[in-house]
Order: sequence, then structure tokens, then C-alpha cells
Amino acid sequence: MSEYGDGTRSVHAGLPPAVPGEPFLPGPVFAAPYHLDPVAGPAATPNGYGRPDNRTRRLLEAAIGELEGGSALAFASGQAAVSAVLLSILRPGDHVVLPTDGYYPVRGFATSALSELGVKVSFAPTAGPHPSYAGVRLVLLETPANPGLDVCDIASLASEAHAAGALVAVDNTTATPLGQRPLDLGADISLASGTKALTGHSDLLLGYVTTRSTALLESLTSWRTLTGSIPGAFDAWLAHRSLLTLDVRLARQSSNAAAVVAALAARPDVTGLRWPGLPSDPSYAVASRQMRRIPGVVAFDLGSAERVARFLSASRLVAAATSFGGVHTSADRREQWGDDTAPGFVRLSCGIEDAADLVADITAALDA
Ligand SMILES: Cc1ncc(COP(=O)(O)O)c(C=O)c1O
Repeated sequence: MSEYGDGTRSVHAGLPPAVPGEPFLPGPVFAAPYHLDPVAGPAATPNGYGRPDNRTRRLLEAAIGELEGGSALAFASGQAAVSAVLLSILRPGDHVVLPTDGYYPVRGFATSALSELGVKVSFAPTAGPHPSYAGVRLVLLETPANPGLDVCDIASLASEAHAAGALVAVDNTTATPLGQRPLDLGADISLASGTKALTGHSDLLLGYVTTRSTALLESLTSWRTLTGSIPGAFDAWLAHRSLLTLDVRLARQSSNAAAVVAALAARPDVTGLRWPGLPSDPSYAVASRQMRRIPGVVAFDLGSAERVARFLSASRLVAAATSFGGVHTSADRREQWGDDTAPGFVRLSCGIEDAADLVADITAALDA
């Protein structure tokens, strides 16, 4: 499918060959054990037990793998995918470098669980400066970083890390595989929370890891089978169904973000406006070189928690909700979750409503 455009690839990714009388996307297979051949046992079938084997999940993985350009493994959540990568690669005495400004529970996991295991954990801001990777086993990048939306140059950092003998994993949650392909840019692993724009309907949690390395794929598969952090068949099916519209959802979210950003940029009562698609944004140069499209997520500061509350209460279209990338526009005051942001800092995720309606609603809510 690599010869096709994003819309065609999204619609067809992972679907089985057309068979008369069969559905486009087969329904979820609900099974814990499967019938075994009484004589040959599990050797006779790819489906023996639901934890390692599920056809619905394999179709989703084929779809994600095709879009990322590697082999995919689906996990129960984004956190399950990140922790699988960290825990299956790192050993006591290893050194890992994580983003200072990425998804904060990953930092929490590293400073508690990884440090307790004897892994040396250090941090670097996504926008740099980036440290020397001498002696580092794994570098985790997150670009654009959530929630501040700084961007780093994956290809250049991957080549520095590889020269030092380190592996590179990129959290591709905010960009999605249609926004950027970290494996093409030299990363060893592209992982993400599929809970966000990848599936986009705010109705499931999902994570995934993709890689082109057979050794990493084997150890991650074994890790997932042994820890059991799999998504259920229904969530895998819902995720695959949602993936078919990824291209059109992202296109609308991005154009809505451009319209919202233009309106916000004109307001003196909105500060710290960040969107990698804005030519004056510090992330713009690298993002426009590295990314295939700009996400619908925007960040800004309304000055105080109280003004954010007034804005959210006055808006009819912006839902107060955490998470991002969904079809409904939502906004979150990140400090209320313990993120290291200013009290008035807002992450706004543009949905797929009409741009004019969104701009009018956001303008009226800010005026209120
Ligand atoms: C960048 C990033 N990575 C990982 C995660 C964790 O994903 P999940 O909530 O699906 O566990 C999130 C969740 O917000 C995220 O934003």
C-alpha cells in the first residue's frame, strides 16, 4: 500500500483480502481458549490462547504497522506500551534519557520504578540542549512533546544516539503515524498512546509499539505475553474501525487548529500561544521539515486557573476533558493533574466541528 496516499492507506490498512460474502472488517473475535486439534495441539493453529493470539488484534497490528512502516504490537494503553519498552530493554546499571517536558506519568514511572531497579534516569528538554549520549542505553524522545508542543529533530538525535551505541524510541502519540514516521527517520522504536488521535473517538484506551528490529520485536512480544498487557478484542476492533477515518479526522483537526490559532494570536489576553504550524512558533522550522502534517493540538496561557474555569464554563463547544486528539474539541488545564505547567496553561485539542463555529464559540467564551 506504500504507493498510495494517506486517505487510501488509512481506509485499507490491515483489512483482510476481499472474499465474497465476508465483511470488510471482520467483527471482534471473543475467545480465551480456542479449540485445539486433539492430536497436534497448538502446533496446528495460530490461535491457541487469547493472551498471545487474537485475530482481531493481529488485523489492528497489521494496520498500525503498515502506517508506521514497521511491525506493530498493540498494548492495553499507552502507558503499557511505554513501560513495556522501558522495562524490556533497560537493566540495572543502564542509563536512560527521557524528555523533561513529555507526558508526565512517564517521568513518574522512571523516577520511581526504574530508579528502584537501579537504572540511571536523566532528563533533557525536547527543544534541547541535548546531552552527550555516551554510556546511554536508551533515549526516549517525545515530539511534539505533550503538553508544551516543543519539537526535536529525530533524524539528527537518532544518529547521535546510534553513534554512541544507544537505542532510540520516539513517542509518536501527538503526531500519529500520518503526521510523522519515526522509523523512517532512524528511530529503533515508534510507540504511542492510541487512545488519542489515532483512534480519536474518546471511547477506548490503547497503546502500541512498532519496530523494524526482529530482536526488539521478539523481546517485546515475549514481554507482552508474560505481563499480559493486551487490549481486549472489542477495543482492538473499535480502534481498527476508527483508524479508517484517520486521514480525514487529522485533516479537519489541523485546519481547525489553524483557524483557532489565527483567532487566538490576535488576542492580547491570550499569551504563550504554541502550535508547531505557526510560522513564528519555535517548533515551526523542525516541524515543517520533519512532519508530514501538523496536529490539531494547541497550547496557550489564560493567566489564571479562575479564567480557564470561566472560559470552559462559557464555551458551548469546548468540552472540559483531559486527553486530546478526539473528534470533539476539548481543553484541559494541565496543572490540575500535577503537570509542571503554569496555573492558566491550557492544552486545547481541536475536534472536527466546523471551523467557523469553533472560532465563534472560543471567541465568545474568552470574551465572557
Ligand atoms: C505522549 C503520551 N504518551 C503516552 C500516554 C499514555 O497513554 P494512555 O493514557 O493511553 O495510557 C499519553 C497519554 O496522555 C501521552 O499523551
